[in-house]
Amino acid sequence: MSHHGFCIWLTGLPSAGKTTIAKALTPKLKARGWNVELLDGDEVRTGLSADLGFDRKSREMHAARVTFVSKVLARNGVIPIVALISPYATSRSRARTDIGAFVEVYVTTPLNVCEERDVKGLYKKARAGLIHEMTGIDDPYEAPEHPEIIVETVDRSPDDAAEYILRELERLKWLAPTKEPAAASPVSHAPSAPRATGVTGNA
Ligand SMILES: Nc1ncnc2c1ncn2[C@@H]1O[C@H](COP(=O)(O)OP(=O)(O)O)[C@@H](O)[C@H]1O
Ligand SMILES: [Mg+2]
Repeated sequence: MSHHGFCIWLTGLPSAGKTTIAKALTPKLKARGWNVELLDGDEVRTGLSADLGFDRKSREMHAARVTFVSKVLARNGVIPIVALISPYATSRSRARTDIGAFVEVYVTTPLNVCEERDVKGLYKKARAGLIHEMTGIDDPYEAPEHPEIIVETVDRSPDDAAEYILRELERLKWLAPTKEPAAASPVSHAPSAPRATGVTGNA
């Protein structure tokens, strides 16, 4: 296999929508002929980082392990989709450098919305002082300064958010453009180059 994949790295606060968007995005990329592997922070913690806590060093180590796996996958033609809080800019910049083919997606849901969603009830626990090192409450989140893609999730469905990311990936030339859905050809979606070239006006 000669083509190279690329890493889609979703960062954002807890309950921002990283996991949900990653799950919506996965079948859409598969439908375009890509092999996709979802590396969800929580799942990877069980499988690869069970020894780690939530202090800065642990979070950086966790991100470094995910980075390594992503690099291996991407160079074998897979799209790793990472859904990881990854609160530290240095971790993300290391991932960018190490992986190379890297798209940082900032899921930019405001803290108050995340706290309202509180998917795992952790904000409530943190506010009550029952847990500590909760990102956004008593642990830092360094928002990306120059992400390739910024996706908002307020007043927008997860599917819309995933579609928006697809459009952005096309615009950034990581994905080949598709024709309008009605005219889409089933044979034109297989990835064959490290980056999609020959976009509109250049074909
Ligand atoms: N546009 C959207 N994108 C992603 N999630 C959304 C969106 N709108 C509402 N949600 C909801 O927000 C929550 C996000 O949870 P989750 O994906 O687990 O967050 P994270 O993985 O970032 O911690 C889910 O309950 C999801 O249904
Ligand atoms: Mg998640």
